Amino acid sequence: MQWRSGKEVRSKFIDFWVSKGSKHYPSFSLIPDDPSLLFTIAGMVPFKPYYLGIEKPETPRAVTSQKCVRTNDIENVGRTARHHTFFEMLGNFAWGDYFKKESITWGWEFLTEVMGLEADRMSVTIYEEDEEAYDVWRRLVGVPDERIFRFGRDGNFWFMGAQGPCGPCSEIMYDQGPEFSCGRPECAVGCDCDRYLEIWNLVFTQFDLQKDGTLVPLPKKNIDTGMGLERLTSIVQRVKTDFETDLFMPMIERACAMGGARYGHDPRSDLAVRVIADHIRSVAFMIADGILPSNEGRGYVLRRLLRRAVRFGRLLGVYRPFLTDFLPDVIDLMADPYRELTDNRLTIEQIISVEEKRFGRTLEQGTDLLDGETSRLKAAGRTELPGDVAFELYDTYGFPLELTAEIAEEKGFTVDTAGFDCAMEAQRERARASSKQKRSEMTGDVYSELHEELGDTEFTGYGSSEGLSVVAAVIVNGETAGALEEGQEGEVILRSTPFYGEKGGQVGDTGFLSSDTVRAKVLDAVIQRGLTVHRVKVLSGRIAPLESVKAEVDVERRNAIKRNHTATHLLHEALGRVLGGHVRQAGSLVGEGSLRFDYTHFEPLTREQLLSVEMEVNSRILDNTPLEVEHTDMESAREAGAKALFDEKYEDVVRVVSISDFSAELCGGLHVAATGEIGPFKIIREEGIGSGTRRITAVTGLVALRMFQKMWRFVAEISGMLSADEDTILERVEHLQAEVKALRRARDAEKLNAISAGLQERLHWFALKDGPEGVYGAFEGLSADELRELGDRMKNSRREGGLAVLLASKTDSNVILVAMADDKAVKAGVSAGKIVKEASSMLGGGGGGRPNMAQGGGKDVHALPKVFAAFQSMVEGQIRR
Ligand code: ALA
Repeated sequence: MQWRSGKEVRSKFIDFWVSKGSKHYPSFSLIPDDPSLLFTIAGMVPFKPYYLGIEKPETPRAVTSQKCVRTNDIENVGRTARHHTFFEMLGNFAWGDYFKKESITWGWEFLTEVMGLEADRMSVTIYEEDEEAYDVWRRLVGVPDERIFRFGRDGNFWFMGAQGPCGPCSEIMYDQGPEFSCGRPECAVGCDCDRYLEIWNLVFTQFDLQKDGTLVPLPKKNIDTGMGLERLTSIVQRVKTDFETDLFMPMIERACAMGGARYGHDPRSDLAVRVIADHIRSVAFMIADGILPSNEGRGYVLRRLLRRAVRFGRLLGVYRPFLTDFLPDVIDLMADPYRELTDNRLTIEQIISVEEKRFGRTLEQGTDLLDGETSRLKAAGRTELPGDVAFELYDTYGFPLELTAEIAEEKGFTVDTAGFDCAMEAQRERARASSKQKRSEMTGDVYSELHEELGDTEFTGYGSSEGLSVVAAVIVNGETAGALEEGQEGEVILRSTPFYGEKGGQVGDTGFLSSDTVRAKVLDAVIQRGLTVHRVKVLSGRIAPLESVKAEVDVERRNAIKRNHTATHLLHEALGRVLGGHVRQAGSLVGEGSLRFDYTHFEPLTREQLLSVEMEVNSRILDNTPLEVEHTDMESAREAGAKALFDEKYEDVVRVVSISDFSAELCGGLHVAATGEIGPFKIIREEGIGSGTRRITAVTGLVALRMFQKMWRFVAEISGMLSADEDTILERVEHLQAEVKALRRARDAEKLNAISAGLQERLHWFALKDGPEGVYGAFEGLSADELRELGDRMKNSRREGGLAVLLASKTDSNVILVAMADDKAVKAGVSAGKIVKEASSMLGGGGGGRPNMAQGGGKDVHALPKVFAAFQSMVEGQIRR
C-alpha cells in the first residue's frame, strides 16, 4: 500500500467515481437546508429530497467529499482515536440507477486497486436477509464465507429517520493487524477496539418506512455511501489514530510546541492537543459557513467548541489567546478545495479572537468559583453540583453547561442539569415577559403534502403587483379545509401569486384577494416548502379552492419595502468600502418602516465613519442608477464578484441584482427601478449585538423625510425656547449647563455655611499628647459629598500636631460615615480607612478607603454614640510612638 496524503485520498476518491459517470458536487454548506437538522451530518443530507422523491435529481450519479459536523459525542473527541466534531465524508450516490452490484464491486475496486488496501485484510458485514448483497460479495468479489458476517436490523440497516427511505447496508472492515487489537481473546470483527476498523458504509436505499413500521419497496432503488476521509487516510498512512495523519499533524505539532509537550508521552497533554486540533477545524469551517457564536442552536455549538478548546489550552499551560495561531495550518491544509476559508479568513480570525478574549476574561474567575464550590461540597460529602451554580457559570462566566459538566466530572462530580434547566427556564420566562410574543411559527406537514401536489408557487410579482389566480388550497389550523368563511382567519395557497413571501430578510407583502363573491385581507405572506402561504382574514363572502381571485398587493407598502431593500444593498457595499473587506452580512430585515442590517465588524463606528457611509449611500441614490437583474449560474456570479450569503442554498440559476459597477448581490428580492426612487437615506441607530457583529438600523423615503421634519421641528422649538437660532443653540445649552452647575455649587456652599455657623456646638474635639488632634460630630441629612466638604474645611484649619476627623450623617434608617486624616496625622500612623472599616462594622455595615480619606456606614443608628466614644482610642491605637 502506497502512502498518500489526505488531499490525494480525497481527490482519488472523487476522480474514481467521476470515471464511473458520477457528477462531482463541491461540498455543500455545513448548514443544511433542512429544519430537522442543526448541521450536515452525512453526505446524503443535501440530497435528501432525491431520496424522498420530492425533487428530481439533475443527474442519476453523484460523488462528494462532504463537510460534516457531528456533536453527539464531543466529550469523546481526543479521548479516542477516531471521534471528531468536524470530518469529511466521502460518498457516492445513485438515484434509480446503479445498485448493489456496482456499488459493491466498484467500491471494492477503489479500495483494493486505487488505494491498495489488501483484499485479504478486509471483511464485510451484510444485513442478515440480504442474499443479493451476499451473492455479490461471495461470487463477484470473491470474499470467502468466513469473512462475510450477517447482522440484524440494529447493525446493518440504515434509517434516515422514523419514516422515509431506508435500506439494508453493508459495511467494509479493515483488519489493521494484531498490534492494534485490544488483546481480549474474543476480539474479532465487530469488536469496537481499533483492530477491525469500519471504513465504509454502503446503504441500499430501497424501502420507504411507513408510519406503522412496514417497509414498502421504493419504485426506484438508491445508493448512499459514506466513508470517513480521516479514517481512510489513517489506514493508508499506517498510523494509530486519525490525529497522526497529515490532516491533523501540523496542528498537533503546533499545540505541543505551544504547551511544551511531547506527543505520545502524557495522556493528559495528548488529549488537550487533540481536542485543540479537532475543534479549531470545526470552528474555522463553521464561521466560514456563516455561523456566529451565540447562545442558541448552531452558534451555541460553535461557542461551546471554541471555549472548550480555550480551556484545553489552559490545561496545556497556555494562558494567552492562542487559537488564531492555528488558522494558517487549517488554511494550508484545507483551503484547497475549501476556498471559503480564504474568502473569509479575516472574519474567521476576528471572530475567534474576539470570542477567545471575551471568554479568557472570565475563565479564571469561573474556574475559581467552580473550584470553591466543589471543595465546599466535597467537605459536605456531596457529589452533585447544584443547577444554580452551573447556571451562574453559564450566565455570568460564559461556561457552556457541557463544559461545566466536563470539569465537574474530572473532579468526581455530576451536575444537576434539571436544576440548570429550571434556572434557564426561569430566566427565559423573565425575558419572555419583557419582550413581545413573536409571531407564532407556521409549521406542519400540510405544506409538504400540498407541495408534492402543487410544486413551488410561481411568483409573478417581479414586474407587477397584481394578477388573477386560482385558489389551490385553504388551510385552517394546519389542515386543509373546504373554505374560509366571512370573519375567519386562515391561509390560502394560490396557483401563482404576485405576493412576495418573506424570504432573504425581506418581509412578506400584504394586500387583498377579491372576486365577486369574496374580499379577504392578506395580513402576511410567507414561504413554506416552496409554497407561498397567504395569511388572510375574510372580510366578506367566502373563499374556497378552485375559485378565481384577483390578487392585489398593497403597492404603497411594497414601494417602501423596495426602497429599503435597494438601500440595504447600497449600505452593504458602502460599509465594505468604508470599514474594509472583512465586512460580511450576518443578517438583515427589510421592512416597510425601516431596514436593519447586521454585519461582522469589531468596534462601534466613529462619527466620521457613520457620516461617510451615509454620504456614500446618498451619493449613489442621487446618481439615480438603474438596477439590473441578471440570471446566471453560481460560478459566473462568484467570478463576477457578486456577494452571496453563506448559509443560503442557491438554485443552479441564480439571480444577481446589480447597481452599475457599485454593487452586485445574489438576491431574490424586490428592488426599485433606479436608485433615485429611494429618496433620503438616514442611519438612525448603530449598535453591537454579540461577538464581532454589529447592527445598523436606517430609514429611507417618506419615513426618512418625516423623521427630518420631526427633528427640524424639535430644533425649531428648542431654539424658540432658548431664544437662539440653530447655529447658536449648542452654545446656549452649554452656557445654561454651566450656569446651573455654578448655581448648584453656590447653593451647596450656602448650605454648608449654614451648617458651619452652628458647627462648633456639634463638634467634639480631643487632643492626644504629642500626637494629632481628633474631631467628630453628627449631622442630619447631609450627603457623603457634603460631609467630605466639611471635613476638608476642618483639615484646612491646620492643627499643629495633625488632625483626624470622623463625621456622620444620620437618617432614620442609616448612618453615613466619612473619616479623614491630614498629612501629619497620616505620617503619625492614622488610617482613615481602618477607622471607617472598624466604625462601620460597629454600625452593622461596611466601608473603607485610603489612609487620608475613607467612607462607609451602616444601619444601626443607635450604635453611633459608641462609635464616637471609641474614636479616640482607635486613633490612639494607630499612632506610632
Ligand atoms: N448515510 C450513511 C451513513 O451516514 C452512508 O453512514
